[in-house]
Amino acid sequence: MSCKATARIPASTTNLGPGFDVLGLALQLYSTVTLEITGEDTEVVVSGVDFEKIPSTPEHSGFKAVETIFQRSGIPRPKGMRLRIENGIPAIRGLGGSGTAILGGLLTANELCDTPFSLSDILDIASEIEGHPDNVAASLYGGMVISVQDGKRIHTIKLDCDPALHLVLAIPEFTLSTQAARDILPDTVKFSDAIYNISRCSLLVASIATGQLDMLALSMKDVLHQPYRSNLIPGFDEVVEAASAAGALSITLSGAGPTIAAFCLNNMEIVGKQMKAAFMRHNIPCEIKVLRADPEGARVWTHDKENR
Ligand code: HSE
Repeated sequence: MSCKATARIPASTTNLGPGFDVLGLALQLYSTVTLEITGEDTEVVVSGVDFEKIPSTPEHSGFKAVETIFQRSGIPRPKGMRLRIENGIPAIRGLGGSGTAILGGLLTANELCDTPFSLSDILDIASEIEGHPDNVAASLYGGMVISVQDGKRIHTIKLDCDPALHLVLAIPEFTLSTQAARDILPDTVKFSDAIYNISRCSLLVASIATGQLDMLALSMKDVLHQPYRSNLIPGFDEVVEAASAAGALSITLSGAGPTIAAFCLNNMEIVGKQMKAAFMRHNIPCEIKVLRADPEGARVWTHDKENR
């Protein structure tokens, strides 16, 4: 057994409008997770972006993920382990940060145990811990991933994204827990609303698959979750309007929010400036990031051999 493994995992933006809990896109923004067998006390060390918002205790979801690999593989858990998380992803902002920590724990522990679990098994476990598959599937595989849950198994297809497609992310200073953003959703939906989302989600997948990005504006619309969640984000409508007026193709809530993602082929700088100004009119400072899709997904290596 190796003593130390590291995983680099991309952030993700999910739902992409109509694909609630189904569509995810990996982003070129990363967290790095290292698991080391030390023989000393168990330790979780968090550094980097928003480190103060992330618990650095064995209750951390990344460490729970490590324990899950040892429990389910039947391999005795080593006495002392250190999990080090170098976080590059703004926390609790709808960018899949918790999913990257879970994947980091699972992938590094799996690597130290000589890979008892396949990547597909890892996705099933990650999705079980996270509660939905869309973030972890995108972070694991890269590109845009369609996830379908069938019983306990998650089935996926990955699509490559046109590298010309950029995301301008307006990341507000305030956080919004996924649980709170799920709790406000209704229990049932209208038949016509279901058709609205199914049609747009299908068109969105086809437009990415065929490179017909002119269909993004029409396809990235949603009536199942954004109308409810936008009430939790002061200035949502104005930020969307500002991005659209500045030339964005389409604008969605990133995951459960509060980050707003504008998809652009050009005009990224002015779109970002206008989104920031619109949030500021509501006294909400925000950070702007311009990113492309990560094409590769998570990578993991031990410190004596590098592999996936
Ligand atoms: N699909 C999930 C949701 C993503 O929208 O609640 C949360 O990160």
